[in-house]
Amino acid sequence: MSQKIVVFWYSQSGQALDIARQVCRDLSRAEVQVVYKEILPRPAYPFPWSSEAFFEVFPESRLGIPCAIEPLSLEDVQDVSLVIVAWQPWYLSPSIPIHAFFQSPDVQTFLKNRKVLSITGSRNMWVMAMEQIRTYLRECGASLVGQIALNDRHANLISVTTIVRWLIHGKKQKTRWLPAAGVADADIEAASGFGMPLIRALSSGNWHALNHELRELGAATYNPALAFVEQNGHRIFGVWARAIARKGATGSPGRALMLTAFRYYLFSVIYLVSPFGILFFWLTLPLRFKKVQKHRERVLGLPEIDDQPN
Ligand SMILES: Cc1cc2nc3c(=O)[nH]c(=O)nc-3n(C[C@H](O)[C@H](O)[C@H](O)COP(=O)(O)O)c2cc1C
Repeated sequence: MSQKIVVFWYSQSGQALDIARQVCRDLSRAEVQVVYKEILPRPAYPFPWSSEAFFEVFPESRLGIPCAIEPLSLEDVQDVSLVIVAWQPWYLSPSIPIHAFFQSPDVQTFLKNRKVLSITGSRNMWVMAMEQIRTYLRECGASLVGQIALNDRHANLISVTTIVRWLIHGKKQKTRWLPAAGVADADIEAASGFGMPLIRALSSGNWHALNHELRELGAATYNPALAFVEQNGHRIFGVWARAIARKGATGSPGRALMLTAFRYYLFSVIYLVSPFGILFFWLTLPLRFKKVQKHRERVLGLPEIDDQPN
């Protein structure tokens, strides 16, 4: 088959990269050359984070204000058949380096008319960030041909607790009371199973089938209650982010104060309000059933290529 694909990736812990590597693991056997290109923010974001730094990136993540990134060399990947972007959500939006990647004029030119597969590794809220990725792709004339979105499968409040332990205290491993943070190792390992449909699409040129096959393999999951929380959270985050950004850049008077208020707001919403929001969602599900079905299709389906003839 002798083809070439490129994987652009950003990952602090290596999780998003590990998933992408597993997806591409068996491609070399089908003579597909995989070129990896790291998206490098300058300066790098800390990992593990201090709690100040973790909240400091909230307004820019939500508002899509990019950071500086190292220029990417694109000459050697002009002949690729597929572009993979491996990324992660920050605050229900793409991470800031991923905003920077998609807003780079060189990248936008490169992506025009290209086929793109999205790979994300998140806690459990990836839907609104993915909407933004779809917008970026549409704007630069690329078509999304598939999405792989792996999550931490533990209950919402458990995964919040473990991710804070991981991202801020650097402790990922399980304890007596808590499971390990992040996407389960077994799920990352199993991501190699998504390589087969990819090989089929690359060899047949039928991209129409790829996302359907990935869906059947459970490559992306839609949890309607979490999507409901996300939709509302994303809107409210927008209000907070604009208000904080109006106070100025890092170090501006008033910004730190508002970020502290946001921090208390966020934890009280997650631990005190979201359980009731989720309960409310399930109780009122019969009233919104059709809307939920439609949203599920929009999130998991790909109208952009489903509408195209093979
Ligand atoms: C600042 C920040 C905000 C995050 N916000 C979200 C979020 O909104 N939804 C989510 O599912 N995960 C969120 N996460 C978790 C990441 O999406 C990701 O799973 C984790 O940071 C590991 O990614 P890595 O591949 O960069 O190591 C957040 C992480 C960070 C650092």
